[in-house]
Amino acid sequence: MSLDELRAQCLNCKKCGLCETRTNVVFGTGNPASKVLFIGEGPGENEDLKGEPFVGRGGMLLDKMLAVVDLSRDKNIYIANMVKCRPPKNRDTEETEVAACRPWLEEQIRLIDPKIIVCLGRVSAIRFIDPNFKVTKEHGQFIEKDGRLVMGTFHPAAILRNPNQKPAAMEDFFALQEKIKEICPETYAE
Ligand code: URA
Ligand code: SF4
Repeated sequence: MSLDELRAQCLNCKKCGLCETRTNVVFGTGNPASKVLFIGEGPGENEDLKGEPFVGRGGMLLDKMLAVVDLSRDKNIYIANMVKCRPPKNRDTEETEVAACRPWLEEQIRLIDPKIIVCLGRVSAIRFIDPNFKVTKEHGQFIEKDGRLVMGTFHPAAILRNPNQKPAAMEDFFALQEKIKEICPETYAE
């Protein structure tokens, strides 16, 4: 199966109750051949309306920070979320919803086969890396998981709320850039 075929299936998904209230499934966006995958928490209002991850204010900040290290969803990375449909009024996602949605993410990971995965924010990191993950302590550290390197960093919305986190977040992006040059330099090939 290709990523496009997976997307087509996902767009019809009714495996959890979030299908009742979503406008669009937010499957993910970027270059399917990229070696770097970012995982957010789940769609907010703007994402639900547009069907694309990280398109609000946080998304604009994310794109800016990515550009500093020559990464772009239009070129050399892929961006997805733990959960593909927006919870009503942005309430926290329930464990049952996360579990129902997880196979879509796992299949995306299998098909894209990234070398590096970056979790954006605490919720993504505790679900994907370690239930005890502490962003303030462990951000920017690469650990190996199933043959891939995984790192957690600050969520763009958290940086907007708390701009003094931005230098630390930017350091993580520079560390990511170095790691990319080391293990998947084709990311930066023209
Ligand atoms: N926050 C997320 O975690 N994901 C999005 O797609 C948008 C905002
Ligand atoms: Fe399906 Fe995930 Fe949307 Fe639930 S959140 S309906 S599991 S795509």
